[in-house]
Amino acid sequence: MDWGRRNRLAKIIKLETGRTVMLAVDHGYFLGPISKLENARKTIGPLLPFADALMLTRGILRSSVDPECSVPVVLRVSGGSSIIGKDLSMEGITTSMKEALRLNAAAVALSIFVGAEYEYQTLMNLANLVNEASEYGMPVLAVTAVGKELGKRDARFLSLSCRIAAELGASFVKTYYCDGFEKVVESCPIPLVVAGGPKLETELDAFKLAYDAVKKGAVGVDMGRNIWQSPHPIAMIKAVRAVVHKKASPEEALGVFNRSK
Ligand code: R5P
Repeated sequence: MDWGRRNRLAKIIKLETGRTVMLAVDHGYFLGPISKLENARKTIGPLLPFADALMLTRGILRSSVDPECSVPVVLRVSGGSSIIGKDLSMEGITTSMKEALRLNAAAVALSIFVGAEYEYQTLMNLANLVNEASEYGMPVLAVTAVGKELGKRDARFLSLSCRIAAELGASFVKTYYCDGFEKVVESCPIPLVVAGGPKLETELDAFKLAYDAVKKGAVGVDMGRNIWQSPHPIAMIKAVRAVVHKKASPEEALGVFNRSK
């Protein structure tokens, strides 16, 4: 791997632990003003000191994050569909590599929709983005999107999606935790981070998800709603950090949460 790509990745996946807590706030690109992200600046600002990387679109980066911010940016560069539109998988590349470089991105991210109507288009988006990103030492994060069909969160489907992302040249992949997650990790030769998904019933559930994912080989989380839709987002991210970077158990993380809220 060339120096620039390694250097950018090292900003996201911390050398001290080999792990990362990415804060995902890119949801608006197809969900619009999702609850607790209506005023993105207000939500993101207090969490920045606790995030190893920030995943978002250029619009929210420019409007809601100060340029003095030292948190590495994983720039969402795919889009073109909406939650009320015909098909979520109908995505294209929305943001140029030049723009990603201008914004000093540490990586670019796009979704791939394996098994969906526009599978080919999104996989070619990934392949083309990797070709372009390679020219500039820019890592590519492939997001294994599941569209509206949440039933597809099983190990066979996620192994297929993650492996295809790796084969097409992604530097790292974001996927979902599932039963048999170790199988997804085993067959994926690039680092994996897990999304949190919709807000879980309890804080402990979110800590368990993060704990099980890293225990089974994920390099960390790219978590959104379970952090900022909590009434205590700072306590949540601190507790998730304890799990990811300090190997805290879910119960220990709950202690961190309760002491911090
Ligand atoms: C989903 O479209 C976005 O890519 C999110 O970044 C991803 O789902 C992670 O956020 P959450 O933990 O809220 O699922």
